[in-house]
This record gives sequence, structure tokens and C-alpha cells, in this order.
Amino acid sequence: MEPVDLIFATNNMHKVAEIRAILPPTLQVRSLTEAGIIKDIPELFHTLDENSLEKARIIHEMTGMHCFSEDTGLEVDSLGGEPGVHSARYAGVGRSAVENTRLLLERLKDKKDRAAQFRTVITLIWDSRVVQFEGVCKGHIVEKPKGDLGFGYDPIFIPEQETRTFAEMDLSEKNRFSHRRKAMDRLIKYLNELIVNDK
Ligand code: IMP
Repeated sequence: MEPVDLIFATNNMHKVAEIRAILPPTLQVRSLTEAGIIKDIPELFHTLDENSLEKARIIHEMTGMHCFSEDTGLEVDSLGGEPGVHSARYAGVGRSAVENTRLLLERLKDKKDRAAQFRTVITLIWDSRVVQFEGVCKGHIVEKPKGDLGFGYDPIFIPEQETRTFAEMDLSEKNRFSHRRKAMDRLIKYLNELIVNDK
């Protein structure tokens, strides 16, 4: 059986690699670049759900193909859920992950409560179906960055029941806990049922 072709509305190859590591052979995912789509999609909305939906909607409109997108935020309890939907531009538009991380640690300097969670919202558009899937990974923020694997806020986040940051874990270890993995598991389950029922 030919695998189903899906566009993943991102050019973040870290995210693509994480997702490819868990895809069943029934599904084949292409990033925007791999699909020959040159498009920078701004994140204009105030929630992960809306940004995720908008990215999928734009790519579906452009290509007419089955596609999905995701938006992720790091939500820190003692900062009222910040940086949340602003995670990518916390230190300002165009700032690096190191600068975002530095600012977050600075704002947490005197806080005892360092609980946080990553939250991912995936939006699938499949013909006229639009479905969202959420994945959450709870944990806490460390005082100093540790590890050099992964991306973004990985060096400062330790998931529950672990002692290492995400940046000290290889891809398959991060995928045992991760927000993106949990949302993807739900998407894959949904797609597998859809593909079987469409036969
Ligand atoms: P976006 O979903 O690409 O908009 O990501 C929002 C921000 O969160 C960016 O700064 C990413 O680098 C960061 N981010 C997204 N997913 C992860 C992750 O799994 N680990 C660490 N940082 C992440």
C-alpha cells in the first residue's frame, strides 16, 4: 500500500525529525521546503489553537493537499502562563532561542515555583475535515541551561519523572515524554482510523 502523503506546515527541521521518528509506514510527511512551498506564515493570533489553525488553513488553501500544522508554547505557572503563545518571540521578534531562554531565566530569578509545561496544538486539514489534537508535557524550569541537543527551550526544561533537560536527551528519549509526541500520537490514531474507514 502506498503511504499517504501529508504536508507538515513547518520548516523547523527539528520538529520534522521528531515527528518522522514516530511516523508509521502508512504516513509520509513533507516539510514546506521539501514540498517546494516557499511561505513564511506569521503567527498573528493570541492562542496556540488559532495560530495552528491558520498555518494549516493557509497551506491547505495554497496546495489543496492533506496537511497539518502545529504551534507550541512553553507555559510557566509563576509567570501566568507566559511565554505561551509568545514563546518564539519572547525576547522580541527575530531574537534567538538563547536570548529567549536568557530572558525567561531572568524573569524566574527570584521565583520558587518553577513549574511549567510545553503545550502543542496540531491542526489537521483532510478534505473538509478540520481537527485539532493537543499534547502537554509537564515539568519544571532549571536555573542554568544544560545540554546541547534539541532546540528552543530544551536546555532549560526537565520533564516530570526525569533529572535531565530535554537538551540532554536524544530524539527518541525526548519523544518518550514530549508534548509534540503526545499530540502526534492522537493525530496518527485518528489518521489510521480515517484511512481504514475510507477503504
Ligand atoms: P513554534 O511552535 O515554532 O512557534 O515555537 C514556539 C517557540 O517554542 C519557539 O521558540 C520554539 O523554539 C520553542 N519550541 C517549540 N517546540 C519546542 C520544543 O519541543 N522544545 C523546546 N522549545 C520548543
